[in-house]
Amino acid sequence: MQKTQHFIQSQKERFMAELFDLLRIPSISADPAFAGNVHACAAFVAERLKEAGADAVEICPTAGYPIVYGEKIIDPSLPTVLVYGHYDVQPAVPLELWTTPPFEPEIRNERIYARGSADDKGQFYMHLKAFEAMWASGELPCNLKFMIEGEEEVGSSNLSTFVKQEKTRLSADMVLISDTSMLANDTPSIDVGLRGLSYVEVEVTGPNRDLHSGVYGGAVANPINILARMIARMHDENGRIAIPGFYEKVLELSEADRKALNLAPFDVEEYKRDLGIDALQGEEGYTTFERTGTRPTLDVNGIWGGYIGEGAKTVLPSKAYAKISMRLVPNQNSEEITALFENYFKSIAPHSVKVEVRPHHGGEPVVTPSDSPEFKAASLAMKETFGKEPIPTRGGGSIPIVALFEKELGLKSVLMGFGLDIDALHSPNESYGVFNFYKGIETIPWFFHHYAKIK
Ligand code: BES
Ligand code: MN
Ligand code: MN
Repeated sequence: MQKTQHFIQSQKERFMAELFDLLRIPSISADPAFAGNVHACAAFVAERLKEAGADAVEICPTAGYPIVYGEKIIDPSLPTVLVYGHYDVQPAVPLELWTTPPFEPEIRNERIYARGSADDKGQFYMHLKAFEAMWASGELPCNLKFMIEGEEEVGSSNLSTFVKQEKTRLSADMVLISDTSMLANDTPSIDVGLRGLSYVEVEVTGPNRDLHSGVYGGAVANPINILARMIARMHDENGRIAIPGFYEKVLELSEADRKALNLAPFDVEEYKRDLGIDALQGEEGYTTFERTGTRPTLDVNGIWGGYIGEGAKTVLPSKAYAKISMRLVPNQNSEEITALFENYFKSIAPHSVKVEVRPHHGGEPVVTPSDSPEFKAASLAMKETFGKEPIPTRGGGSIPIVALFEKELGLKSVLMGFGLDIDALHSPNESYGVFNFYKGIETIPWFFHHYAKIK
């Protein structure tokens, strides 16, 4: 791996310049206004893959945004690693909260500020550069396949079709993903679990038109008041979700697992200071790590209706809306949970309103082994570059395709992410540490080195 590491050290500036070019493309998958940019981003990734030395590079069309594929098969008898990442990013709004524009990357305090810097452009690009370095140095120890998609942030529904159709092309021994975070730069960790997701939009309709809130107020149901009351009934006083049957399939952790999970360092004062809050809140009886990694949740992501313009307009609105997400844990199932939500939500609606529940994308939770050869290889790799073995952790976020890799391809994933909580994923001023970008590029070749030996 020495030549590879030398290559990396000698090419650092170019790697950063290329990442900046990637970050300049506003590949926002959720907003159709950016469709041209998302396609341009796929083309950019395909070009960089070819330059890095990948063969069979293809921009695979789907019913939505394309999947970029590439591979390097050096010897079919060697193990094959499938690298997954996503080149799409979340919307950057509200733009006025960014210190510098989201698609004009800039380094400040050793951090790369741009939408997608950590999620996931800065992270998947580390894999392209690590591969380039290994290939150019004649030190690539196993076969590699790349699959970089453009719809992760909108639920990966076309990727799941692709995965089902392309089982031969995607055949591999494992999946390697960098799209999660670690505890700290001096405390490496690897997520061995991700939560699933149910996402719904609700619509509450009262009168057939907006009304004068003086003429009708008090006699006709106000859908915003009603929706607020219904949302308040989603949790009980102990922070538990009140939907009947919601916890039925939740796998409780063993005492040993809980202990192991809580061994990771956690500074509650620092956590609160970072967020500007005076107290934490959540399900009674669980620690913060347990609440974010192992317990299901329900959150309102947005709520609207009525008059929100300048000044005051006296109006009793006809409609109220909310977007609600539920994070799921093993063995909950997103379709079942969505159905339970819908039943409960309708059951608590008064006769004075009509309600509609529209399901959005979902995804299943996963737990990956921490005693497998692939986990061991990741652990050894991080030990090489961080000087410490990583701690197994549970990530609170979701990468729905991970459960599908297991179900459709029979492949386990290793979530070797290099981000940090302070990266502000999906928020204004998203950033990624310069340290983390280079550390990732240096660590990944060690992963291949150890995996090829262990496997
Ligand atoms: N990379 C994140 C998921 C993530 C971040 C997992 C940090 C663990 C730690 C991913 O891009 C993401 O944002 N996923 C979405 C789900 C998707 C269906 C929109 C999420 O978790 O909200
Ligand atoms: Mn991501
Ligand atoms: Mn994301």
